[in-house]
Amino acid sequence: MAFELPELPYAYDALNPFMSAETLEFHHDKHHNAYVTVGNGLAADAGMSDKSLEEVVLASFGNNAPLFNNASQHLNHMHFWKWMKPNGGGKSMSGALEAKINEIKTKYPEPSDKPKRVQTPRTRQQSSQRPRQSKSSGKRKSGGRPPRRR
Ligand SMILES: [Fe+2]
Repeated sequence: MAFELPELPYAYDALNPFMSAETLEFHHDKHHNAYVTVGNGLAADAGMSDKSLEEVVLASFGNNAPLFNNASQHLNHMHFWKWMKPNGGGKSMSGALEAKINEIKTKYPEPSDKPKRVQTPRTRQQSSQRPRQSKSSGKRKSGGRPPRRR
């Protein structure tokens, strides 16, 4: 069955000021629609026009990258439109999805701090040998490639 571009579940300007009407219209009407039209052509080429979107995604995975990309992006965008709503808020995750996310968060907690830079003997030596630019001219005189260091 052919892929179809779904109607947005809200008006183009419903997500202002977080997403402009112009952005939403472009994203839905051009971007998402391209996945639908290109995906339909690729599905036809692959003899999968009679399959559901989910069947096409599964069948193309690992076998037909362009078809997989377009079909799965179509699927992603259909969910994406539903996850947003005017005035935001809410909690609409299924219990199973929320439990899985919490399980992953427990397994892989967010780092409490930014990663620290580790200086190896080599990087320590490089930073101490790095030539300083003169304060009078911030640019190289000749342009082009920097002189080769030995
Ligand atoms: Fe997108």
